[in-house]
Amino acid sequence: MKIAAPRETAAGERRVALTPDAVRILARDDIEVVIESGAGIAAGFPDAAYEKAGAAVSGLDAVLSADAVAVVRGSPELFARLDPACVLVGMLNPLGHPETARALADRKLTSFAMELMPRITRAQSMDALSSQANLAGYRAVLVAAAGMGKAFPMMVTAAGTISPAKVLVLGAGVAGLQAIATARRLGAIIEAFDVRPAVKEQVESLGARFVELDLETEGAEDAGGYAKAQSEEFLQKQREQLGQRVAASDVVITTALVPGQPAPLLVEEAAVRAMRPGSIVVDLAAETGGNCAVTRADEVVDLDGVRVLGPTNLPSEVALDASRMYARNIITFVQHLVTEGALALDLEDEITAGALLTHGGEVANERVRGLLEGGS
Ligand code: NAI
Repeated sequence: MKIAAPRETAAGERRVALTPDAVRILARDDIEVVIESGAGIAAGFPDAAYEKAGAAVSGLDAVLSADAVAVVRGSPELFARLDPACVLVGMLNPLGHPETARALADRKLTSFAMELMPRITRAQSMDALSSQANLAGYRAVLVAAAGMGKAFPMMVTAAGTISPAKVLVLGAGVAGLQAIATARRLGAIIEAFDVRPAVKEQVESLGARFVELDLETEGAEDAGGYAKAQSEEFLQKQREQLGQRVAASDVVITTALVPGQPAPLLVEEAAVRAMRPGSIVVDLAAETGGNCAVTRADEVVDLDGVRVLGPTNLPSEVALDASRMYARNIITFVQHLVTEGALALDLEDEITAGALLTHGGEVANERVRGLLEGGS
């Protein structure tokens, strides 16, 4: 069997779906790899590194004739050229852009969306949302530290003492916990809040203070461990109570998410305006509308010297490691789909069925079908 990875063409996308290490691992299962020439350059993997690992480096035509194609994001143009016999695997943004699923189904392609991977123990090593969110949390802190006119650590010098930066992290899931860990390594004083009470212990174990708000959060977590959507009344109270803490912070990093919902609004414009000029808000939820009222996706909004950043692809800024993690997610999943060197799709299997987006001319995922039927 042959699996191929094309060069990513989305604006600003530096990651690649397969790395030279992935090529070596797949070779052990007799899986050949074809890489489009130049596909890994932006992530730090030149063609020669792939060739050394045993991959064939070639033009796009050879990629398109593989049994499976792995992408980070791919593009409509690429999907339109794939042979229906080929299996597509990638971050296909099925909940954010369900029309892609429709187009893939119309072309009778079998496709798997890494975002739909069930969050179960057996599939942890295939969980691309987590591997990429982890790096986004890390990168968000570095972006804030580099863009701020204040140092993160406390420094005692002959010229005086520098106080540590105050960082507030809202939403302490995968990205938020990594943001806390990274800010802590840089010497900041960190406070964090999440609606799921279970997170308090994790926040504290990383050396941050858990902010206690006067809110009823007892039933805020669903059976799958995710946050439930909160009422507007709840969010209004939350914003009011967070306002002063936001104002007193040098850096606010927001990562709050309820799966399949627009980002909950946690930070009002007035709170941002009350921050000291030179402070920074990094809103990781920009793509789903933002946790902060003034966020604009992939823009920097300057409110009297307080800057609000809404970067939507932070993992791409750490493309080498993001690609390594993502490729590991991809190959573990591909190995799961392969028996004796050939693709053998068991659509009854929880992982295979969970990640299946389109098959046999249909959109296989119920939620995505619902979004399409809801007429977006
Ligand atoms: P996650 O599901 O692990 O964490 C989200 C957290 O938000 C959960 O702990 C949840 O309890 C919490 N939350 C929900 N409602 C809340 C509220 N009202 N107040 C406080 N906390 C609340 O998600 P993950 O993987 O950490 O991703 C976080 C966000 O970062 C998502 O919006 C995701 O799309 C985004 N992301 C952004 C990237 C970028 O480059 N901008 C890259 C990767 C992820």
